[in-house]
Amino acid sequence: MCGIVGIVGNQPVAGRLVDALKRLEYRGYDSAGVATIVDGALARRRAEGKLFNLEKRLAEEPLAGTIGIAHTRWATHGAPTEGNAHPHFVDGVAVVHNGIIENFSELKDELIADGATFSTQTDTEVVAQLLAKYRRDGLGRREAMHAMLRRVTGAYALAVIFADDPSTIMAARSGPPLAIGHGHGEMFLGSDAIALAPFTNEISYLVDGDWAILGRDGAHIFDMDGNRVERPKQVSSAAAYLIDKGNHRHFMEKEIHEQPEAISHALGHYVDFLEHAVRPVAGGIDFAKVPSLAISACGTAYLAGLVGKYWFERYARLPVEIDVASEFRYREIPLNPESAALFISQSGETADTLASLRYCKEHGLKIGAVVNTRESSIARESDAVFPILAGPEIGVASTKAFTCQLTVLAALAIGAGKARGTLTAADEKALVRHLAEMPRVMAGVLNTIQPSIEQLARDLSKCKDVLYLGRGTSYPLAMEGALKLKEISYIHAEGYAAGELKHGPIALIDENMPVIVIAPHDRFFEKTVSNMQEVAARGGRIIFITDAKGAAASKLETMATIVLPDVDEVIAPMIYSLPIQLLAYHTAVFMGTDVDQPRNLAKSVTVE
Ligand code: AGP
Repeated sequence: MCGIVGIVGNQPVAGRLVDALKRLEYRGYDSAGVATIVDGALARRRAEGKLFNLEKRLAEEPLAGTIGIAHTRWATHGAPTEGNAHPHFVDGVAVVHNGIIENFSELKDELIADGATFSTQTDTEVVAQLLAKYRRDGLGRREAMHAMLRRVTGAYALAVIFADDPSTIMAARSGPPLAIGHGHGEMFLGSDAIALAPFTNEISYLVDGDWAILGRDGAHIFDMDGNRVERPKQVSSAAAYLIDKGNHRHFMEKEIHEQPEAISHALGHYVDFLEHAVRPVAGGIDFAKVPSLAISACGTAYLAGLVGKYWFERYARLPVEIDVASEFRYREIPLNPESAALFISQSGETADTLASLRYCKEHGLKIGAVVNTRESSIARESDAVFPILAGPEIGVASTKAFTCQLTVLAALAIGAGKARGTLTAADEKALVRHLAEMPRVMAGVLNTIQPSIEQLARDLSKCKDVLYLGRGTSYPLAMEGALKLKEISYIHAEGYAAGELKHGPIALIDENMPVIVIAPHDRFFEKTVSNMQEVAARGGRIIFITDAKGAAASKLETMATIVLPDVDEVIAPMIYSLPIQLLAYHTAVFMGTDVDQPRNLAKSVTVE
């Protein structure tokens, strides 16, 4: 939810810390701050809101110092004010924190009873207060850090500097990610490798329970018992990606239009275009043997999993148990240790999804990760990693990651069907041919539907409520369309199984609430047309997303009909994602919301 960076260097660090924060702004942007050590004293600048407010503050009041820590915040405890912005100072100790200190209230009471005076509403201040107390009690910096870590509980990534030691940064990880960057005569710390890409691509990842002391010549890493541990250096691929908007207004627009290319990367990894066959699945999951599959994820990734459920059950006859990660592990599902579990996550750091993964691991299941970030916590804790190869997705609303997740899940489901003998070689060949068509079909759709979508978005931007309907794999797509619209335009929207309309939502139908119906001319089409007639009979306005056959067959008057190419069912979810993504995007543009960084959201939710 928040981004952390630190540099212990041999040149002024404030500007470079802010540059690194820019690459972490997708993690949260309620406020930001930077602290350095100048002439034996702590100095800091903080600002509410977006990072450019901090840049402005630094331009007005520059900050010296060759050692520093910085932070971009998504508020969990305490309003997003400058006073609650990190870094937090207490008696010569500066702290930045990502995560939640779960026992902060008990510790705060204890410290206040001991005479401490708190100046913020944050849980983070407890860390600074504890360290200051231990230093007052005569502990050295390292002992104070170790003692503090033994007191706090919760999920945290921390960076700490002490005014009386301008040569070391202390760091700790228990949950949210933290990476150490190796420089020459300087060392770096960041929430992920993307933040450190401008400085180094030599990265070591702290694991849960690690804490570290970074000096200009390197890092010493310790476990929770205080024993030295080694963490391997690896070359990060984050630096390889150029992260800018190109000729697009927003990252989201760029990423929507990158989908043909991104999907072709994903396909190349999973299918053999010459043989029209799925490549053998690497890693520790034998889909031929598993009796069932569990899938857990959050948000858009969960909806991708819901589409995957239809495919695994249809093509591989594999029963799938799926739930949102925040519910999954509390249901006490009777899990079969012979089964496998897939965790889908663009960031690979979503706390709820990681917790579900650990729950399944404890129950002996084989773990698979469908992720966009190979060096992520979810990937590192899995038996098999299935990268989606979408490239960095900066827009908070997930688009290319969603269709790449679908592509990977389709390939895995087809591969599972082949392995379990529920698909013949001819079936496999036919399905893979359809997958191989996707980049071309997507490029065609993106080049043709934009004008009608923009016109429709102008109308939609005046609405207060929108309903999305779909059947089969179009049902999760209806929910994804609703999620896209509400998270970037702030218009209330709901996605429903079309068959459920008559069981309640039909009471909502009137001329003020557009109903977006996602319905290729597939085996469910006739039934969905009946639902559309129920809507029309009650004065509802329909936006119809279908293909040429569907448009010709429906005969219903609509607010608009978006006609897509006639495609096979197996790729319909990816193709029909495009109009729902573009509709949400252009509606948000008309609404004037912050498309890439919508209010209250963060790209990676690393707290439960
Ligand atoms: C999608 O548009 C949202 N930004 C959100 O629902 C996201 O999909 C969810 O938080 C899961 O993130 P992850 O894929 O990184 O785990």
